Amino acid sequence: MRKITIAIDGYSSTGKSTVARQLADWLDYVYVDSGAMYRAVTLYALRKGFISEEKFDRNALVEALPGIALEFRKNKNGKAEIYLNNENVEEHIRTLEVSEFVSPIATVPEVRRKLVKLQHAMGEGKGVVMDGRDIGTVVFPNAELKIFMNASAEVRANRRYIELRDRGADISYEEVLDNVNERDHIDTHREDSPLRKATDAIEIDNTETNIEDQFHTILQLAKDRIAGRI
Ligand code: CDP
Ligand code: CDP
Repeated sequence: MRKITIAIDGYSSTGKSTVARQLADWLDYVYVDSGAMYRAVTLYALRKGFISEEKFDRNALVEALPGIALEFRKNKNGKAEIYLNNENVEEHIRTLEVSEFVSPIATVPEVRRKLVKLQHAMGEGKGVVMDGRDIGTVVFPNAELKIFMNASAEVRANRRYIELRDRGADISYEEVLDNVNERDHIDTHREDSPLRKATDAIEIDNTETNIEDQFHTILQLAKDRIAGRI
């Protein structure tokens, strides 16, 4: 069966990684969570003190970029997890603190160039599902299937709030909603590779759709593309 490239973009917490992972498992494709890569760079910048509430030393981050090695490795359950300089940081990158600083970090063109290069290498040879903000527009503009996900900000924030709370985080719904709105604003307004729907992307609003139904809708689109039906 021919292999295709599937690009899934959209606003924060719309269910991109959930459906991307399901598709990759079902199709036996490689799954790449490009947001995890921006989050790992952010964790590095926080640990080095390059970014904080008070300052953002872009030059120091850009100079340090060659020393940042990122890779995905599968854990024993087959789930890809991200490694920063050989350390598994999968849990560390999902905190609200990293979420608060990731969008400013993702505006830096040198960071984007480094990560896009890695993403190209990971998607070589097709058979890849990648989710992010610029996958259909910048990383794989020729992807055979492009999905643009959306849902109301309140529903997205609530889903993310439940997820963080279940992991034991001490946060409020309002904090999560503020973060979702702020990241969407920065991501859509930045100069380099802003979040926008590719002209040939299919928009899916899942405000009222559960995970299972959303998966079946997108899987059908993928099957049609693979078979060359659409
Ligand atoms: O999963 P969630 O919606 O919280 O975000 P994510 O996919 O983990 O991405 C975190 C942040 O990384 C986004 O808010 C963007 O600022 C940045 N990002 C990006 O600029 N380009 C991508 N391809 C992926 C993520
Ligand atoms: O990757 P992205 O930030 O777009 O979203 P996600 O991490 O896949 O999904 C965010 C949260 O919403 C997760 O807890 C999902 O289980 C949940 N979700 C949902 O409840 N219903 C959907 N239709 C999609 C996602």
